[in-house]
Amino acid sequence: MAKVIAVSNHKGGVGKTTSAINIGAGLCNKGKKVLLVDLDPQANLSQSLDIDDPQFHIYGAIKGLYPLEPLPVLKNLHVIPSVSELSSAEPELTAEAGREFILSELLEPIIDNYDFVLIDCPPSLGLFTINAFTAADEIYIPMQAQYLALQGIGKLLALKDVIKKRLNNKLEIGGIFITQFDRRKVLNRYVLETIESHFSEKVFDTRIRNNVALAEAPNEGLDIFRYQKNSIGAFDYMKLTNEILSRYKSNH
Ligand SMILES: Nc1ncnc2c1ncn2[C@@H]1O[C@H](COP(=O)(O)OP(=O)(O)OP(=O)(O)O)[C@@H](O)[C@H]1O
Ligand SMILES: [Mg+2]
Repeated sequence: MAKVIAVSNHKGGVGKTTSAINIGAGLCNKGKKVLLVDLDPQANLSQSLDIDDPQFHIYGAIKGLYPLEPLPVLKNLHVIPSVSELSSAEPELTAEAGREFILSELLEPIIDNYDFVLIDCPPSLGLFTINAFTAADEIYIPMQAQYLALQGIGKLLALKDVIKKRLNNKLEIGGIFITQFDRRKVLNRYVLETIESHFSEKVFDTRIRNNVALAEAPNEGLDIFRYQKNSIGAFDYMKLTNEILSRYKSNH
């Protein structure tokens, strides 16, 4: 049975998409079967893996035109792509009963084909994120160690509590990790300490450092391991992947 992880933070540009892709690719390199779900109308995850104008996508599936059709990027790394039209789904679904369960229902027939499903959430706490939290076992929150990083996180935690209470009682915060970290910056170090004191053991030891290769890889349509396997970015995401796998080993 797959572990379903929603990668979420309603703050924009904190590294959700970069992390979903590279944790997914890291897990795949470790022999796991991985499905990435692009649940963002910006479709950055899809574009970053060179998927343009897909025939089957999350919007069509949400509209009920077809079931989820995973697109293989690698043998064991599959993607449910997004398209910009997904932004119309939110208003279209306002009157639909059980609209919070659409993703969970769509995933059900294919979930057993995977070890991990990673859902790349949009930078909002709207219907798509609610669908991700309803379908997920865990939420991973990427954060930048910058001023005001914690501001607004209360809203995400409150949404998680409501969804856990009403819709999905297995939902937990699986972990928090720091992205775009620069240890030379005093502010980064200071905010990191605040985040660690706030969330204690939920914070992964691995910090994803600032690394230009991570920003370049999407232009080539590649994950970091295929783009530059000896980069700092590849090292950090592999370390995070190992930490994730060891958490599951020790918990189960
Ligand atoms: N560790 C890093 N080092 C350098 N650049 C990074 C790093 N992580 C992400 N980036 C770059 O920062 C930008 C934002 O990252 P990303 O798109 O992953 O964030 P996001 O949280 O998904 O954004 P959004 O909220 O818009 O969905 C991208 O251009 C990405 O390539
Ligand atoms: Mg994104």
